[in-house]
Amino acid sequence: MQTIQTIAELIETLALWRRENSGRVLALVPTMGYLHPGHLSLLAAARHRADAVLVSLFVNPRQFNDPEDYRRYPIDLEQDTRLCRDAGVDFLFVPESQEMYPQDAPELQIDIPELTNRLEGLYRPGHMQGVLLICARLFALIRPDLAFFGKKDYQQLVLIQHLVSLLNFPLQIVGCETIRSERGLALSSRNVRLSEKALEHALLIRRSLLILEKEIHEGEKNAATLKEIGKDIMESGSLNRVEYISVASRDRLDELVNLTAGESILVSTAVFTDGVRLIDNIEVTVP
Ligand code: PAF
Repeated sequence: MQTIQTIAELIETLALWRRENSGRVLALVPTMGYLHPGHLSLLAAARHRADAVLVSLFVNPRQFNDPEDYRRYPIDLEQDTRLCRDAGVDFLFVPESQEMYPQDAPELQIDIPELTNRLEGLYRPGHMQGVLLICARLFALIRPDLAFFGKKDYQQLVLIQHLVSLLNFPLQIVGCETIRSERGLALSSRNVRLSEKALEHALLIRRSLLILEKEIHEGEKNAATLKEIGKDIMESGSLNRVEYISVASRDRLDELVNLTAGESILVSTAVFTDGVRLIDNIEVTVP
């Protein structure tokens, strides 16, 4: 595995790889590091589909609306390097902030307001714009054939799909299932901040999403009722504070009032468990 730190080295390395591997498939797995089995499943999916896998590891300051969250974001480059090597990654791109955002360059902004002003975007101002910007830069620099994203960050996945289609990036986005702990908690780099007790309460998130899925399958069509049921279950854990529950269409993420038979919907939520912000979601097709 080759570790690359600068854009110049990245461009040179990929030009050489392309010269020697014409017609072969390059996959990108963008990450912010502190890799867990969720990331490893993306690496495995990429390994399976592509001839070469490039992992980017960059804690993107532009997508943190909370400076404290950025400051506390866990980093373990040594372990990430080992995990990538073990997973058969070919290139690990670990740029400094100055490489991705040169201080003297004019500021670029990318937005798809119709889709960023919802769900996570409503509660984390600037977050989705930061994700769009870094992904557009990575796609333009690396020009991968495939890029892999987890469904845990569902709005991110939908936005990236629209970004690629609106800017005609010649690239296929692959959405991968959320990886969970044995007891159902969606894996996240932030989970390391949860105490034993908080972990127990966090399990109510998945449990309530499954109950909402069952309610929908049993005929509940009113989004407000579903949100109330979900909030009550999650907040029965005293350490949980629900920030939002959304019942939205899956492709455009607009909030629904009543569900219609045959509709593909996304029930998603953000919950503070003992001060740690966790997100999760479930895809449901209305019967
Ligand atoms: O999902 C993430 O880890 C980040 O949002 C991403 C896609 C790597 C962009 O920084």
